[in-house]
Amino acid sequence: MNALTLVHEVIRRHVGEGAVCIDATAGRGYDTAFLCGLSGESGSVTAFDVQSEAIESTRALLTERGLRARLVLSSHENMGDYAAADSVDCVVFNLGYLPGGDHSVNTRFDSTKRAIEEGLKLLKKGGLMCVSLYYGKDSGYEEHDALLPWLKTLDDQKYQVIATFFYNWQKDPPIPFFIVKN
Ligand SMILES: C[S@@+](CC[C@H](N)C(=O)[O-])C[C@H]1O[C@@H](n2cnc3c(N)ncnc32)[C@H](O)[C@@H]1O
Repeated sequence: MNALTLVHEVIRRHVGEGAVCIDATAGRGYDTAFLCGLSGESGSVTAFDVQSEAIESTRALLTERGLRARLVLSSHENMGDYAAADSVDCVVFNLGYLPGGDHSVNTRFDSTKRAIEEGLKLLKKGGLMCVSLYYGKDSGYEEHDALLPWLKTLDDQKYQVIATFFYNWQKDPPIPFFIVKN
């Protein structure tokens, strides 16, 4: 079990044929492809990334696997321009830098916060947001140090925020958060 398999297991229970999904950080396209596979022909996946290398990498993976998604070269803060409020089943964030890419183009707390706020508006009641936080190494600790206390402040009448810890990992374990809209 690692962060990716844990998150995918939770998503698999939640996302079925016809689901409307957003991948907020397309990267190499693995989450986008996973969401496409679950939501099927009648569902939709919109994926964002600020790097054309990531968008092209995602496009190549989808083509190879015969899958289709709307790929948007833009910050995830703008996801509200691509979906209506209360219309989305699942939003996925994988925070950090593009594996095998430019490690200086990292997700940043300010834009991540705005994007999470935007995503929470778009989620249906009962919708799921997964935020996997990778930090340390070239990413540093800025986003980690700001995101954890901020997520604690989300209104508990509106959202359940579940943090999962790889508790005995010695060095900077990724932290998957699951946010459910009540
Ligand atoms: C850890 S990678 C994502 C991995 C991806 N989920 C996968 O399956 O390969 C993080 C990605 O976030 C992207 N990113 C950074 N800031 C962003 C922003 N403001 N909006 C959207 N994507 C951003 C980076 O370019 C990078 O590709």
